[in-house]
Amino acid sequence: MEIIRIPRIMQDTCKKYLLKGRSIGLVPTMGALHEGHLSLVKRARTENDISAVSIFINPTQFGPSEDLDRYPRDVENDIKKLRAQEVDILFLPDNLLMYPKGFVTYVEVTAISGKLCGAFRPGHFRGVATVVAKLLNIASPTRAYFGQKDFQQTVVIRRMAKDLDLDVQIVVCPTIREQDGLAMSSRNLYLDSRQRQAAAAIYKCLSAASEALRSGTASSAETKKIMREMLAGEPLITNIEYASVYDTNTLDEADQMQGEVLLAVAVRMGEVRLIDNTVVNL
Ligand code: PAF
Repeated sequence: MEIIRIPRIMQDTCKKYLLKGRSIGLVPTMGALHEGHLSLVKRARTENDISAVSIFINPTQFGPSEDLDRYPRDVENDIKKLRAQEVDILFLPDNLLMYPKGFVTYVEVTAISGKLCGAFRPGHFRGVATVVAKLLNIASPTRAYFGQKDFQQTVVIRRMAKDLDLDVQIVVCPTIREQDGLAMSSRNLYLDSRQRQAAAAIYKCLSAASEALRSGTASSAETKKIMREMLAGEPLITNIEYASVYDTNTLDEADQMQGEVLLAVAVRMGEVRLIDNTVVNL
């Protein structure tokens, strides 16, 4: 595995592969890699000639009171995991090369970015869209891979790619879960053992709500009620930021219960913020 730290060198290396007619699959990450990331890496490997992973904890997507400083960092282990997956290129830039002095250009995907998580994390999706646009320009991947767990992120990135005519296929892969259903996330490392057990309530709530929708017995208002009641029943969940049924394209609360709908949840367990979702086909 080639480890490249300098954006210009990453760009030249990827261009050389593209000129030889090789396809490139890029998996952008912030490190602390778990099975969820590795499922994206496996898919990128099988669908492309060259697999590339980026690890960059992007400061512009963290708010001033968020967890940038304590975000889990484990590059040595990440490198081992990526070597075991036989990844071809690891792009590991540092902050100053990604955001040099004088950096003032941002990508804003308006409308969608202010909803759901965006309402609680102002500026978050501006940071995500900006860094993903940079990574796509640096690596020029044929395909870029993202997890469905960050559903809104995938909607924002797809929209950006379409609106800016980016020549890349955005591939969204299923959420990978722990045995009790908790969606894998680097932030799960913040949970103490009691919180970790209690966090299973999120998946239980999504499963009960999709069951109610599928059986045709619950309206969207009733489904929302089921979701909020189940989450409120777990004492270690200290705040429900959102929990409802949404349109998969606009991310507005859905009242038309047909086709694909999104069940999405964001809760806090003390300092820890957890999100999860599921798409139900009615
Ligand atoms: O999902 C993530 O880990 C990040 O938001 C991403 C896409 C790597 C951008 O920093």
